[in-house]
Amino acid sequence: MSKKISIKDSIALVSGANRGIGKAITEELLNKGIKKVYAGARKLESLTELKEKYGDRLELVQLDVTNQASVDNAAKLASDATMLINNAGVLAHGGYKSENMLDSINQNMEVNVLGVARLTQAVLPNIENKPNATIATVSSVVGLGSMPMMNGYCTSKAAVHSMIQGLRGELQDSNVLVSGIYPGPIKTDMAKGFEGIELDKPENLAKNVVIALEQGEEDVFPDVMSAQIKQAYGTTPKEVEKMFSAWK
Ligand SMILES: NC(=O)c1ccc[n+]([C@@H]2O[C@H](COP(=O)([O-])OP(=O)(O)OC[C@H]3O[C@@H](n4cnc5c(N)ncnc54)[C@H](OP(=O)(O)O)[C@@H]3O)[C@@H](O)[C@H]2O)c1
Repeated sequence: MSKKISIKDSIALVSGANRGIGKAITEELLNKGIKKVYAGARKLESLTELKEKYGDRLELVQLDVTNQASVDNAAKLASDATMLINNAGVLAHGGYKSENMLDSINQNMEVNVLGVARLTQAVLPNIENKPNATIATVSSVVGLGSMPMMNGYCTSKAAVHSMIQGLRGELQDSNVLVSGIYPGPIKTDMAKGFEGIELDKPENLAKNVVIALEQGEEDVFPDVMSAQIKQAYGTTPKEVEKMFSAWK
């Protein structure tokens, strides 16, 4: 079943809309004529600049994906949303040879995995059966092959990849487009300290994400590096593991 999306007829809730990739996707949706974006952020004051720019088409929503009450409130406030962009995430570094391996897994899991599950479960009943229903979730290319120095983060993003597939399976006979977004390295605060890696711009990623949603794409590889990984993962997944494990 084709699940192409009309952006002009959509209303989105975006988590982590105040900076980085979430901000870029929010702005791209607004620039492409979406009716409204509910911009979710832990601190509402971090959305002041966006609010001044977009006025009534941007509604501010306090949203901490680790807090069930905050998630429930956000879902209630954004009850007319047709689209959920699960973007909020953290990167806590650490591999097996670091002392904080378990802490790192915990932190990454709490936000990246349980946060996505919490928000998706709260918003799904509002979205299901609406025209242009969409749930798009940001995983990562490192959800498809792990990098040793950020093992806990990669583990969480692999779990997100699995959750996307599981949700798509549950909703396969519905009208809901379930998309997974698999970025490579993008120039945001999260990527500060990525040494010697070329970073794509969040604005480029956002343009490609929105085009992909319009086309009803399930697997979105929205930047220069991820396009290469898509190719490699599609033919020889072991090569992706080898490629990433070389980056220590
Ligand atoms: N940058 C990359 O290279 C890259 C590559 C692949 C995937 N990704 C993924 O893309 C997504 C966005 O990352 P980014 O690069 O834009 O990172 P970023 O600039 O660090 O932004 C992270 C966003 O997530 C929000 N956030 C963190 N914890 C939260 C919580 N508990 N509840 C609600 N919001 C929370 C942050 O809010 P505050 O401002 O309040 O902290 C911020 O808005 C993440 O899922 C990340 O894993 C990034």
